[in-house]
Amino acid sequence: MALTRIDVAAPSQPYPVLLGEDLTSRLKAHLDELRFPDRRVLVSSPRVWRLHGERVTSGLDALASIIVSDGERSKHLRTVLRIYDGLIAAAADRGSGVVAVGGGVIGDMAGFAAATYLRGIAVAHVPTTLLAQVDSAIGGKTGVNLREGKNLVGAFHQPSAVLVDPSFLHTLDRREFRAGLYEVLRYAMACSGLLFDRLDRDFEAIVRRRLAPALLPVIDQCCRIKARIVTEDEREQGVRRVLNFGHTAGHAFEAVTRYRRFRHGEAVAYGMLVAAELGRRRGRLDIEAREAFARLLRRFGDLPPIRDLRTSELMEAVARDKKIVDGRLHFVLPTGIGQVEIVNDVTTEELEGALLAIGCGG
Ligand SMILES: NC(=O)c1ccc[n+]([C@@H]2O[C@H](COP(=O)([O-])OP(=O)(O)OC[C@H]3O[C@@H](n4cnc5c(N)ncnc54)[C@H](O)[C@@H]3O)[C@@H](O)[C@H]2O)c1
Ligand SMILES: [Zn+2]
Repeated sequence: MALTRIDVAAPSQPYPVLLGEDLTSRLKAHLDELRFPDRRVLVSSPRVWRLHGERVTSGLDALASIIVSDGERSKHLRTVLRIYDGLIAAAADRGSGVVAVGGGVIGDMAGFAAATYLRGIAVAHVPTTLLAQVDSAIGGKTGVNLREGKNLVGAFHQPSAVLVDPSFLHTLDRREFRAGLYEVLRYAMACSGLLFDRLDRDFEAIVRRRLAPALLPVIDQCCRIKARIVTEDEREQGVRRVLNFGHTAGHAFEAVTRYRRFRHGEAVAYGMLVAAELGRRRGRLDIEAREAFARLLRRFGDLPPIRDLRTSELMEAVARDKKIVDGRLHFVLPTGIGQVEIVNDVTTEELEGALLAIGCGG
C-alpha cells in the first residue's frame, strides 16, 4: 500500500505525517527510519488495546505499555499522573519516547505527559479515531481538563512523527465516526471549497468508510490543511484561529450539558450552524452557500436535541470561554464555502437571536 508523507514545518520542530493503510504493521520500521528514540513506551486505552493491541505491539519491542482510560471524563491530571508512574516504572529517560495510540484524549494526555516528564521527551502519535487522524494528532497542542473547563492546563509540544493508519477506523462506532466527520466538514467550510465538493460528491462512500476511493483522500486533504496551518502559525496567533470555526458556540453546547450529551464533533456541528446563522444575519453569507452547507449537514443524520437548552446558559458559557477579549465575543464566521472571517464584535443580542433561530429553547 502506498505511503503518503506530509511535512509539518513547525518552527519548534519539523516532522512528518505518514499516511497509509496498514502502516501499523510496520510501525517499528517507520519509527526506526525516522530515528525516533528506540526506548519506546506505549500509551493507549483499554478499548483500543483490546481491539488493536496485538497488531500494534507485534514487533514494536516497547519497554512498556501504559493503559489508561480515555473519553472526555478521564481527561484530567490524575490520569496523567498514572502515565508518569508508568514512565518511571519503565525507567524512561531523556532518550525515551512515548508512542500514543488512541483517540484525541489519549493523544492530548500522552502528549502532555511527554511534554512535561523530565522537562520534555519525544512523542509520536498513532491516532485511532477520525477526529484524532484529521486534527488532534497534528499541531502539538496537548493538555487536560480541569473541573472548571476544557483544556485549561496544557503545553505546546510538537510530536516527532504522526503515523496515520485509516484501517483503525473500521472498529470505530458509527457515532464516533460521524463526530469526526463534522470536524472534516469544519475544514471544508473554513478552508477548502474543494474538500466541501468532495464530501458532497463522495458522501455515501465516505460514511461506508470505503478507504481507497473515498475516505483516504479526505483524510489526506485534512492533514495537509492542518499541516499547512501549523507550519504558518504554530502557536495560534493568527491563521490557526480559523480552525476554531464552530468551536466558540460548540464548546458552550458541550459545557452546559457537562460533556455528556454531545460528542465533541456534534457540538461543533451546532456551533457551525450558529456561526452560519450569524453570518447570514450580518449579510456576509449568501443564502445559496448557507443552504449548501445546511443540506450537506443534514445528510450526516440527526444530532442530539437542543430544544431544552436555555440561551441564557449557553451565552454565559460562551462568555466564560477563552475567546472573549475586552468583553467582546470573538467568532469565526463563514463568508462562503471554504471561506471564513474572524470578527470580534458579536453582541449578545445577535448571539441570542442565532441560538433561538437554530432551535435552542428561550
Ligand atoms: N490537540 C488538539 O489539537 C485537539 C484538537 C481537537 C480535539 N482535541 C481533543 O480530542 C478529544 C476528543 O478526541 P476523540 O473524539 O478521539 O475522543 P476519545 O479519544 O475519547 O475517543 C473516543 C472513543 O473512541 C474509542 N476509540 C478510539 N479509537 C478507536 C478505534 N479505532 N476503534 C474503536 N474505538 C475507538 C475510545 O476508546 C473512546 O471511547 C477532546 O478531548 C478534544 O479536546 C484535541
Ligand atoms: Zn474540534
